[in-house]
Amino acid sequence: MKYYLTTPIYYVNAAPHIGHTYTTIAADAIKRFKRMQGFDPVVLTTGTDEHGQKVERAAKAAGKTPEEFTTAVAAEFRRQWDEFGLQYDRFVRTSDPRHHETVRWLFERCMKNGHIYKGSYTGQYCVFDELYVNEAKPGDPCPDCGRPTETVTEENYFFKLSAFTERLLDLYEKQPDFILPESRRNEVLSFVKQGLNDLSITRTTIKWGIPVPVEGHHVFYVWFDALIAYMTAVKDTDLWPADLHLIGKEIVRFHAIFWPAFLWAADLPLPKHIYAHGWLLFEHDKMSKSRGNIVRAEPIRKVMGADALRYFLLREIVFGQDGSFSYDALIGRYNSELANGLGNLASRTLTLIQQYRGGAVPAGNAQQVQKVACETIGTTADAFYHFEFSKGLEAIWTLLSAVDKFIVEQAPWNLAKRPDGEAQLDSALYAAAEALRIATALLSPILPESCAKIWSQLGMPEPLESVRLDSLAWGQLRAGQKIGQIAAVFPRIDAKPAIEKMRELETQVSAEQAVLLGKAPAVSQQPAPAGPQITIDDFSKIDLRVGQVLSAERVKGADKLLHLKVDLAEAKPRSIVAGIAEAYAPEALVGRKVVIVANLAPRKLRGLTSNGMIVAASIEGGKPVLAGFLEDIPVGARLK
Ligand code: MSP
Repeated sequence: MKYYLTTPIYYVNAAPHIGHTYTTIAADAIKRFKRMQGFDPVVLTTGTDEHGQKVERAAKAAGKTPEEFTTAVAAEFRRQWDEFGLQYDRFVRTSDPRHHETVRWLFERCMKNGHIYKGSYTGQYCVFDELYVNEAKPGDPCPDCGRPTETVTEENYFFKLSAFTERLLDLYEKQPDFILPESRRNEVLSFVKQGLNDLSITRTTIKWGIPVPVEGHHVFYVWFDALIAYMTAVKDTDLWPADLHLIGKEIVRFHAIFWPAFLWAADLPLPKHIYAHGWLLFEHDKMSKSRGNIVRAEPIRKVMGADALRYFLLREIVFGQDGSFSYDALIGRYNSELANGLGNLASRTLTLIQQYRGGAVPAGNAQQVQKVACETIGTTADAFYHFEFSKGLEAIWTLLSAVDKFIVEQAPWNLAKRPDGEAQLDSALYAAAEALRIATALLSPILPESCAKIWSQLGMPEPLESVRLDSLAWGQLRAGQKIGQIAAVFPRIDAKPAIEKMRELETQVSAEQAVLLGKAPAVSQQPAPAGPQITIDDFSKIDLRVGQVLSAERVKGADKLLHLKVDLAEAKPRSIVAGIAEAYAPEALVGRKVVIVANLAPRKLRGLTSNGMIVAASIEGGKPVLAGFLEDIPVGARLK
């Protein structure tokens, strides 16, 4: 039986970061687990969502056409997934003409069935979220991102979403596992119960999109476009409907409300499940561009390997809930659970077989290990089936500790010295190796690379990927099997240099991504010559403080200036006039932590008093780039 699953189709106006990697890793782990369950084929689709005003603007800022820009960013997503060994089968780009065709086809089916009409719309629109903000007045901020909304009036095609309200409620009722986990289902349920408005699904204000048939100046609204990519990927196959759309919680409404309604309107079958996982935070804080605390996965992969990150994300975070990433926690778990836990047990077991049985697995058995191992197969399979990765991993680690304890109790090194210890030694070694085989197979969807190594060290003849859950039963390890070459799978990692290296690579990768997105000059320039020497006392005269931008607006008649209100943990916010208007949109600065020269004598600029100066780096002819922090730091802290 087939299993078709998808990740979100990622926006190309940002380069991939650890949040995107989190979803794609989880999807890859599910794919591998489904294969173990016996589904065939298991097909995973990912891709890029390339249309809309934000992309049009980003391309312009990068000095590229939208086609050039989206091609470059889509390639970067693919490169990341390839280097991570993520097994996606289809990569859809919404700018692909085949996708255009599917969107028009679906639109025409909805139209023919009478679910689309033409109307006129005036309202507030959030360019950032590509969303009309219902009930907002001109000047209101977007409720999702807080950025200012724009007033637009358009003649649009509308989708009769309101007509599907009852049918949607009935769906959530009859198929309680349509939206998972349950907390998300409840959220959607109470939203839909308030009633739904019709949805405008075309735009005339945007050029970069899929043209609506007949109406050349209309393009499709990005969500009418992007969701259909799940279908484009498998059109002309029998893989539709999808078995699972795996997404982050912020896009659950689009998937659980719009998508089923579009499909019903076109007389097409619905996906079976939508699973919305939680947010990955950085040290308990939401990752965002304005906070400057975005973490990329590539430096972690380069320093610690892909499996270290896969393990951490799926073990640390209860899938479905929000969770936090930190380098310390990553290395902590790696050393204690992978290096000392799994890695040690594997090399210990194999070394004992090498030492006492010349590298051939002996025949024997030990009931107590068999019992725990069999229970673990059941618990883990059940947990993974419900996407409870951390619970499944916990069960496997219970097995690993039980085997560890068993080896210590059996003390093979003593048995080997006793003439009557042979049979017990055989049994102890067989049981440990067999438990290791089972644990390795169960873990393979989560740790594919490392488990393949342990698998071949165990001398298993068949490829790990061909192992199925129902052939995992105890006793399948063949006596007499020769083990392979023993090597450490998880060498211990020294935290301090590893974190330093990852941070260094993070700076490098984020600079490379900035170039890709056209946010920084590509050519490296000669730095300006060093200034005259000063003493530490000279330096300490400069009072540099951490500030947070509370508001920012353009200064009338001055193209380069922004007027900022900055919180320095003083009684009142500071008014600061900064020459950064060409590099930063005012709304992008709100909430951002910056460095302020706090004791600069006040100056008047265009009638506004500037009480301090914002610190930025720039190169000759380049735009200023604000100084900021990777870690969080309280407002008012002094830089020394
Ligand atoms: N283009 C839309 C999706 C259209 S699907 C038909 C979109 N793109 S996105 O690039 O913003 O990707 C959002 C998805 O990336 C989230 O739903 C989630 O899967 C993943 N994540 C991005 N940042 C994340 C975190 N900080 N934490 C967890 N997941 C994150 O929305």
